[in-house]
Amino acid sequence: MSIRTLISGGLVVTASDELHADVLVEDGRVAALAAHGSAAAAAWTADRTIDASGKYVIPGGVDAHTHMELPFGGTSASDTFETGTRAAAWGGTTTIVDFAVQSVGHALREGLDTWYDKADGKCAIDYAFHMILSDVNEGTLKEMDLLVGEGVTSFKLFMAYPGVFYSDDGQILRAMQRASGNGGLIMMHAENGIAIDVLVEQALARGETDPRHHGEVRKVLLEAEATHRAIQLARVAGSPLYVVHVSAEEAVAELAGARDKGLPVFGETCPQYLFLSTDNLAEPDFQGAKYVCSTPLRPREHQAALWRGLRTNDLQVVSTDHCPFCFRGQKELGRGDFSKIPNGLPGVENRMDLLHQAVLDGHISRRRWIEIACATPARMFGLYPQKGTIAPGSDADIVLYDPHAEQVISAETHHMNVDYSAYEGRRITGRVDTVLSRGELVIDRREYAGRPGHGVFLPRSTCQYL
Ligand code: URP
Ligand code: ZN
Ligand code: ZN
Repeated sequence: MSIRTLISGGLVVTASDELHADVLVEDGRVAALAAHGSAAAAAWTADRTIDASGKYVIPGGVDAHTHMELPFGGTSASDTFETGTRAAAWGGTTTIVDFAVQSVGHALREGLDTWYDKADGKCAIDYAFHMILSDVNEGTLKEMDLLVGEGVTSFKLFMAYPGVFYSDDGQILRAMQRASGNGGLIMMHAENGIAIDVLVEQALARGETDPRHHGEVRKVLLEAEATHRAIQLARVAGSPLYVVHVSAEEAVAELAGARDKGLPVFGETCPQYLFLSTDNLAEPDFQGAKYVCSTPLRPREHQAALWRGLRTNDLQVVSTDHCPFCFRGQKELGRGDFSKIPNGLPGVENRMDLLHQAVLDGHISRRRWIEIACATPARMFGLYPQKGTIAPGSDADIVLYDPHAEQVISAETHHMNVDYSAYEGRRITGRVDTVLSRGELVIDRREYAGRPGHGVFLPRSTCQYL
């Protein structure tokens, strides 16, 4: 039975507009918007009314970079699709795009089917997949076309992690050529992994085993060099390029230079690079391990360039790269050898709040918040306007956000399945109050109302941001 829901009296904020409007939801979609108090809105009848006065009414967040249950470094990311999507909803995110993994020697099909199985019937919110290419060969290049046809339209390649996910320049060029023919978007982990491995070996030989050395060997120059090389390879192939988890000012400069030439080159950064730094990696008693991820956290001076890039649109998206490992038993695998610390940070629950704080701190505007966290990731990955906006016909993925509520981020209160918070103790103004996914309540005035299996797989079209 279809329930008509009226969301009344809030400030609707999308990437393009801010208006005091009522939103009518029917059959899981946005049916109409009308100015609050207008005759049109007054004439609507609804089965239930949600009072949004004093709140923002925003599109559900689209997190285009998560790794639920990712096997990595001899262990697996600690959030399952069930726990991770529930936590995402608590944080105002209603769509994730997770990464299915191809293992070396195996077909893309096998990896993708494994990820369909992991997620099926488990998710509280809708989800889609990118495909990680770990083994570019004739067979997998052909499979890329099939995946684009079934809605898996983006492919992550790694210039890092030799022997695991790494592709050489020839493999990268071939995959880019294929993507330029089939409309796929190549996502690049841009770090020179061959050079980094030499520096890792040398650091360990000198007895430099603490987490902070993870940041020191993964040098800014090696992110910038790989970013530059990825851009040149994409130019040669005639393909667009999306660089993931950009952390260094010099890498932003490479993207900005390419975009100034009019090239279809895009970049994503993550909250950890905007809010954390090498100071965290240097925390004593191995606590720095909590902050080991790649690309690594940078000295805090880099943050200004990232914020500037987000304002000037040299960076278009903020995703989390949510890849949680518990401190106890998982991060601890790297005691005495930083290269054995599983790489990744938790954050799927924190992104919308941290970026709202950035609005209050003057880094970005309110509409830019929605653009980088909802609308552009949806456009970039072929989900717009189904996701990422509030407009007639869009899925009713809607968040009522209380811009005045105060909260202190903590592992004590978060919903991610991980035993620490990367933002422990941070005071934030703004908090999710209510979340709807396709018109159904997932969070109802700070009570969980969702269920595993509500979320469905989203086949995506090709990039709409070109
Ligand atoms: O440290 C990270 N980023 N872990 C997840 C895998 C990746 O490279 O995105
Ligand atoms: Zn990566
Ligand atoms: Zn990642």
